[in-house]
Amino acid sequence: MEYHQNKRVLITGGAGFLGSHLCERLVAEGFEVLCVDNCFTGSRKNIFHLLDKPNFEFIRHDITFPLYLEVDEIYNLACPASPVHYQFDPVQTTKTSVHGAINMLGLAKRVKARILQASTSEVYGDPDVHPQPETYWGRVNP
Ligand SMILES: NC(=O)c1ccc[n+]([C@@H]2O[C@H](COP(=O)([O-])OP(=O)(O)OC[C@H]3O[C@@H](n4cnc5c(N)ncnc54)[C@H](O)[C@@H]3O)[C@@H](O)[C@H]2O)c1
Repeated sequence: MEYHQNKRVLITGGAGFLGSHLCERLVAEGFEVLCVDNCFTGSRKNIFHLLDKPNFEFIRHDITFPLYLEVDEIYNLACPASPVHYQFDPVQTTKTSVHGAINMLGLAKRVKARILQASTSEVYGDPDVHPQPETYWGRVNP
């Protein structure tokens, strides 16, 4: 197992489906993991088993508001992913996608962190194939 004790990683949406598994993996690899989530669709239950780990911290925060942290890497996974959730409050979903991304990009720029932005298969346009493999460029070329 590799150890990355000096690397701080911010995972937004860290209490969600993908984020909680990524938290688990990076904690196990020895990264300092900061998990940020407003618990809209995610839950503390997903990361409960990590709360007592010394290299894991949970911060309840909505990324549509600025966040000042010192980190080396950012995974921006915060956004309701399924239609029933992202259509529940379209304005908040848009704010999360736009203001949230701007806030995380601003943070990445300030602290010179690498950032990964999660997207959605909706980016392919109205698709002919379900599910879309990486080789399918859809009706648009993202
Ligand atoms: N699961 C998939 O198969 C899949 C496929 C393609 C893309 N994605 C993308 O990956 C990302 C994560 O997907 P997921 O399946 O883990 O979804 P999820 O709904 O389980 O997780 C999203 C997390 O973001 C949190 N969140 C939502 N708005 C927030 C805000 N304003 N501030 C802070 N936290 C907020 C939610 O509480 C939740 O914990 C999404 O952007 C999604 O579109 C997922």
